[in-house]
Amino acid sequence: MTIAAFKKEIWAHYRRAGRGDMPWRHTADPYRIFVSEVMLQQTQVARVMEHYPRFIKRFPNFRALARAGGGEVLAAWQGLGYNRRAIYLKRAAEAVVRDFGGRLPRDRAALESLPGIGHGTSGSLMAFAFNEPAVFIETNIRRVFIHFFFPGRKAVTDGALERYIERSVDKSRPREWYWALMDYGAAMARGGGTADRGNPNRRSAHYKKQAPFAGSDRELRGKILRWTLAAKKNTMSVQTLSDALAFPRRRLERVLRALANEGFIARKGDFLYIKQ
Ligand code: ADE
Repeated sequence: MTIAAFKKEIWAHYRRAGRGDMPWRHTADPYRIFVSEVMLQQTQVARVMEHYPRFIKRFPNFRALARAGGGEVLAAWQGLGYNRRAIYLKRAAEAVVRDFGGRLPRDRAALESLPGIGHGTSGSLMAFAFNEPAVFIETNIRRVFIHFFFPGRKAVTDGALERYIERSVDKSRPREWYWALMDYGAAMARGGGTADRGNPNRRSAHYKKQAPFAGSDRELRGKILRWTLAAKKNTMSVQTLSDALAFPRRRLERVLRALANEGFIARKGDFLYIKQ
């Protein structure tokens, strides 16, 4: 497939079936786009839509988020999963206020200096917040490029995809181009029925099947934080937790140490509390 024919197909699909109904596509405010991109890193659009408006209302700009308590931010994050992102998001807001005068930097390396922002998200921020033709890969984009440019090939690397992404990026309207790509990839994932059983990403060299959630450390982490957030003064006894959650004590202790190291909680004897 030529690049020109590919672009025509993606734009045609976008005109026909683009998803214009997302609040973060109706703003040019880099803060609002920043929050949406962090939420969308690992959470489905439909779920982000449920929580995003409330989060923005509660924390309308970088300064408000930087000033907020960790417990408040974590509480507003509940339902989105991967709580670490909430802590990083708040720390990133602090860094934006402290180092960049409260404005998101229009610079990929500076963006990557922020907590929780890797190379993929710095690229999506350049495109969506600043309308810059950055090259980046996320799961929907990967699916589209593997499907069109690597039919039947296995173990396709992101490096190989980047060359095609770079050649096809629309320099005059990169923001919309990436919306169009993501919409195409999402439609492919919903549609199914291809030789890849709906998911060419199985042929990515970077493909990882998501581990089951039930019984995982991730589930335990989520439960600990939810229980502690719900407790009076965000303070919880480890014994109570241990009684309430059906996880072995040693495992609970290990996960608590990890949460403390990452700055979610602090521990004093038998009590743990949400760090502010
Ligand atoms: N629109 C803007 N960013 C998006 C993303 N990461 N996923 C889906 N749609 C989006």
